Amino acid sequence: MEFRETTSQDRAALLALYLKAFPEEDLTALAAELLDRAGDEILSLAAVEEGEMLGHVVFTRCAPQGDGRRGALLGPLLATPERHGQGIGSALVAAGHARLDAEGVAEVLVLGDPDYYGRFGFAQSDRVTAPYPLPADWAPAWQSLRLSDREGLKPGPLDVPEVWRNPVYWGP
Ligand SMILES: CC(C)(COP(=O)(O)OP(=O)(O)OC[C@H]1O[C@@H](n2cnc3c(N)ncnc32)[C@H](O)[C@@H]1OP(=O)(O)O)[C@@H](O)C(=O)NCCC(=O)NCCS
Repeated sequence: MEFRETTSQDRAALLALYLKAFPEEDLTALAAELLDRAGDEILSLAAVEEGEMLGHVVFTRCAPQGDGRRGALLGPLLATPERHGQGIGSALVAAGHARLDAEGVAEVLVLGDPDYYGRFGFAQSDRVTAPYPLPADWAPAWQSLRLSDREGLKPGPLDVPEVWRNPVYWGP
């Protein structure tokens, strides 16, 4: 299996994968916007086997306002349902972290299930906060991980680019 940056030619297969992996919530509009911005702002990685798209992860490069350090927001992350539990999700996260680490990213933030992201070393973030206030019971889901023991980002709300400035992505 190959873990590589996506191209515009992957678009249709990736959007189809989103419909399969998130049957109860249509994330294709968000995915399409993120794919359009892949490059400087967005790291978009696919897990591909014999030409078949088996998983996808997005990292959005961002940090609190005025912070000179580099940070990233992880998400979405998905693997094709028929191949769950085979390490695709973990491998995509690891591949993304390795690339971000190499470019000097200090800290990765994620809003997701602590039972899953805890396995990578993510823990509840008490310094960098989410771009929108989260419901109290979601607090444990807002997590961070420092790469290579670098000094973490400055405390404050994560200053996300326009594509993420929609409260729909930050609440129930
Ligand atoms: C979450 C997801 C990406 C994991 O992909 P994957 O390739 O199956 O993950 P891995 O094989 O690396 O890890 C599987 C392990 O994670 C566990 N796991 C998966 N989702 C979990 C969750 N929400 N909470 C806790 N554990 C979870 C599995 O039980 C399995 O545990 P095991 O290693 O003890 O057997 C995949 O389940 C998925 O695409 N889900 C639908 C989309 C989604 O919810 N994405 C995350 C939010 S953006």
